[in-house]
Amino acid sequence: MTRRQALKATALASAACATGTTLRTASAQPTPGPTPAAGVTGPFTLPPLPYAFEALEPHIDALTMQIHHDKHHAAYVANLNKAVAEIPELGKKRVEDVLRDLNAVPEKIRTAVRNQGGGHYNHTLFWQMMKRGGGGQPSGDLRKAVEKRYGSLAVFKDEFTKAALGQFGSGWAWLIVDANKQLGIEPTANQDSPISQNKQPLLGIDVWEHAYYLKYQNRRPEYVAAFFQVIDWDFVSERYAKALS
Ligand SMILES: [Fe+2]
Repeated sequence: MTRRQALKATALASAACATGTTLRTASAQPTPGPTPAAGVTGPFTLPPLPYAFEALEPHIDALTMQIHHDKHHAAYVANLNKAVAEIPELGKKRVEDVLRDLNAVPEKIRTAVRNQGGGHYNHTLFWQMMKRGGGGQPSGDLRKAVEKRYGSLAVFKDEFTKAALGQFGSGWAWLIVDANKQLGIEPTANQDSPISQNKQPLLGIDVWEHAYYLKYQNRRPEYVAAFFQVIDWDFVSERYAKALS
């Protein structure tokens, strides 16, 4: 194992520990860009992007991916580490466990943890919800559940798109599984995460302008349409199966 490979493996292990999510590397794809964020120290780490910056071209451009991952996501991680610096026990937890019980977070850092921890968790999921050559449609149990809940895949896509376009200002739109194991579509503002509302996010689209402005400027509908071309439905299906188990 080369030093670079060793560093990458260490970063992946740390990120998986901190986020509790299954981080994947695309072994057949180019090594992603510079990670983790330089200068960031603390219990939470920036997971490497699981594909090259240009992997989602032409739907999502390489420069947007680079800035989004290396600057925006890195900043959430750095600021989360700053927020928990005086409370080491928080840094020993997975970020989703912290977010699941925000009331247990000391009030003086609760808002910071909600925003920065949410940003870290949401983006860690977001990278994995997309892949080179993605798109298409869900299959198997997830497809059946979507069709049962929404009537058809087309109606689901329409409803999800409406939620993404209807989110005023910065935020996300999600496909979630609620506490009753039912599918739902809902937006969240800022970096709020469904996991803080006892819901499991299966699929989410970042509709902060930083996610699309370089390529699409104010044309959020084009970005949302492009997102459907890069969804990794296998990953979404895996999350659905875990949410039901
Ligand atoms: Fe973002």
